[in-house]
Amino acid sequence: MAYSGELPHDFKGRVGWASPSNIALVKYWGKRDKQLPQNPSISFTLSECCSKTFIAFEKADRFGFKFYFEGKETPTFGAKIEKFLLDHQAFFPFVNQLNIRVESHNTFPHSSGIASSASSMSAFVMCLLEIERSLCQRSLGPDLALQKASYFSRLASGSAARSVFPAMALWGKTEAYEGSSDEYAVPLEKVIHPIFKTYHDSILIVSGETKSVSSRAGHALMETNPYASARYAQARRNVSELMAALKSGDLDAMMKITESEALQLHALMMCSNPSFILMRPNTLNIINEIRRFREETKVPVCFTLDAGPNVHLLYPDDVAEKVVAFIESELSVYCVDRHWIADRVGDGPKPLVP
Ligand code: PMV
Repeated sequence: MAYSGELPHDFKGRVGWASPSNIALVKYWGKRDKQLPQNPSISFTLSECCSKTFIAFEKADRFGFKFYFEGKETPTFGAKIEKFLLDHQAFFPFVNQLNIRVESHNTFPHSSGIASSASSMSAFVMCLLEIERSLCQRSLGPDLALQKASYFSRLASGSAARSVFPAMALWGKTEAYEGSSDEYAVPLEKVIHPIFKTYHDSILIVSGETKSVSSRAGHALMETNPYASARYAQARRNVSELMAALKSGDLDAMMKITESEALQLHALMMCSNPSFILMRPNTLNIINEIRRFREETKVPVCFTLDAGPNVHLLYPDDVAEKVVAFIESELSVYCVDRHWIADRVGDGPKPLVP
């Protein structure tokens, strides 16, 4: 499907996409070869935490590239995208005849510790594929188009593969789901119990500092982690059990697996060499409060963590009022300036009016 002909001399335009971040319940931590996961992972697609990306393009004699983040030219941020384009010229040969200007901004603060590579890379890929579509006569159809977007998002940034689907996605081959693949994520929206589409993710900002370890370095440290193979086997079992819980609507099983996965991710970091600790005292204070609240009230709220100190509270909409009151009265004291972000499960990427 790659368009490899000479571009019309007046070929130019501007495309835009908003693409969300996602939060993993079963974590991807450890990769092999070219951005392939060592174990399958499952995530909620978010709705509020998004990257909004535009690409302005025009026919040129040779490849030209500029990247603007939050209105400022940011070559360091752009380097990853430029490298992606250069590494994948065989798939997108038309890019060599384009002058490209990428403008991106996030709806969440850079300092909030929310993984921006999933949203920004998937938004960029959605834009790139739209340019390609404008050149091609034949269309893939919506399902294959999303699979292709997931495939290229994965090459740009692993977890970005999951951001292109509404509600929930599974990335990585598992016997628990036919059609699953290491190369791209698959949508779970149609197989999950409807309660999971109502889920909230309240992100409690324990620290606004940027991560002390990049996920690239974190994945690499799994290569020498003594617990790596036990971890990958455990993650596979967790994916199978979580799939069953997601289908049946078993919230207890879902919460148990989700919390165990969050703590395992951080345990892996603590026993890698060099070791690192991303949780802060207030991360643990919040976790303890959540467990106490759940025990006392039986409200089905659980936590997860990304590769950072901030805590994601996951709960269905029918208990939202109680959980928000709990956050305001008991948890926000542990947050920077009492700051937390109210996000929830979303519908996946959306085109923007250029
Ligand atoms: O997509 P990456 O390479 O930034 O790795 C993401 C790793 C975690 O966010 C920690 C877990 C996950 O599955 O999203």
